[in-house]
Amino acid sequence: MKFPTKPKQAVSLLLIFMLVLPHASATILSPVVHAQKNCDFPAIFNLGDSNSDTGGYAACFDPPTSPYGDTYFHMPARRFSDGRLMIDFIAETFGLPFLHAYLDSLGTNFSRGINFATAASTIRLPDRIIPNGGFSPFYLDLQYSQFVQFKSRSQLIRERGGLFASLMPKEEYFPKALYTFDIGQNDLGEGFFANLTIEEVNASVPDIVNKFSANIKNIYRLGARSFWIHNTGPIGCLPYILTAFSSAEKDSVGCLKPHNEVAQYFNLKLKEAVTQLRNEFPSAAFTYVDIYSVKYSLFAEPQKHGFELPLVTCCGYGGQYNFSTEVICGGTITVNGTKIFVGSCERPSVRVVWDGIHYTEAANKFVFDQISTGSFSDPPIPLKRACHRTSN
Ligand SMILES: *[C@@H]1O[C@H](CO)[C@@H](O)[C@H](O)[C@H]1NC(C)=O
Ligand SMILES: *[C@@H]1O[C@H](CO)[C@@H](O)[C@H](O)[C@H]1NC(C)=O
Ligand SMILES: *[C@@H]1O[C@H](CO)[C@@H](O)[C@H](O)[C@H]1NC(C)=O
Ligand SMILES: *[C@@H]1O[C@H](CO)[C@@H](O)[C@H](O)[C@H]1NC(C)=O
Ligand SMILES: *[C@@H]1O[C@H](CO)[C@@H](O)[C@H](O)[C@H]1NC(C)=O
Repeated sequence: MKFPTKPKQAVSLLLIFMLVLPHASATILSPVVHAQKNCDFPAIFNLGDSNSDTGGYAACFDPPTSPYGDTYFHMPARRFSDGRLMIDFIAETFGLPFLHAYLDSLGTNFSRGINFATAASTIRLPDRIIPNGGFSPFYLDLQYSQFVQFKSRSQLIRERGGLFASLMPKEEYFPKALYTFDIGQNDLGEGFFANLTIEEVNASVPDIVNKFSANIKNIYRLGARSFWIHNTGPIGCLPYILTAFSSAEKDSVGCLKPHNEVAQYFNLKLKEAVTQLRNEFPSAAFTYVDIYSVKYSLFAEPQKHGFELPLVTCCGYGGQYNFSTEVICGGTITVNGTKIFVGSCERPSVRVVWDGIHYTEAANKFVFDQISTGSFSDPPIPLKRACHRTSN
């Protein structure tokens, strides 16, 4: 048969080819697509600060009081929000129970994971720890050593059997688990509140990130293989920073530009560090998750996402941002002889900032919905596939 020479025939052949080709390539790619199964994480191990603390701080210090927890738990739930945190939504995604805190000695069940995060935790050893300052003693190195202890002692407890054995994870869960991280915000905050200049805080970022990396490497060496690492949010949009540094330059949204620039530099270095970890340890999956961009979009375009008054604290008191260091959410303040209870705003479901430092459940849910798709991950891996190294 002769090859068609008439233009019309050539065009139709080309059309057929074009219609067939995508099909053909889909067939070629499909084995790879099928290789990308959802991961079967039997447990979650979390390290971090208040963004993911489900009871560590409350086990050691003053627990948050009502209206904390009101929206979802209908009571204070040892979390710094009106409801669930991102780590809670992550656990729900995999049908796992909410994580209990390692430091909580009452009624805890660690069979499907454990949480080492405490509010006010830093990556580096902080200068001033509670009560002689605002930071948690459980900085990242200590959270890591708690994990080391937990890993070995939980297995001793399982071997002994009896009442406590069933509350501990199986040994095989350690390499198969998802390891999640959200820490760094308080390292920047510590620098700002120690009255360091922006340049000085900025200059401390590489060391902070190196110390983060060192801990991740140690956890890898203990057998962890799936890492889900959140970057740090736009700290310069939070009322506790806006109030303390009110004379700093603002961006068009009303957030503090220099403070957010330091957060961005932290994220740049963190992303580089995660890339390096990925190269160094090819048998593990390291996913870097850009929380910053999603949180910032809540401040920049609140209406678009169904939110309002993004810079104003829902549960706070006083000033432009409804925030004061003199009284926090759940406390009382006496003004002109009258006692005022600092409670929730009317609609926390449309608000971004809960108590001036932490986000509402609605904001946490919004951020979670965005990041779980993989659109904000590097590589672009959805949460459910975070055991894989690449997106295809
Ligand atoms: C501990 O948690 C696991 C997983 O959610 C559950 O199956 C088990 O019943 C719990 N154990 C106790 C004693 O509550
Ligand atoms: C930082 O400066 C403010 C205002 O000058 C001061 O009140 C505060 O005590 C200083 N903080 C520290 C940690 O030096
Ligand atoms: C932080 O340091 C980096 C690297 O030197 C620099 O590129 C960046 O502009 C600095 N940012 C601020 C806010 O000082
Ligand atoms: C307290 O009293 C002062 C003086 O009378 C008044 O200006 C102020 O608005 C009062 N504050 C509140 C919260 O009522
Ligand atoms: C500010 O906080 C108070 C609680 O002290 C709350 O009732 C009020 O609704 C908040 N204001 C705004 C605008 O959210």
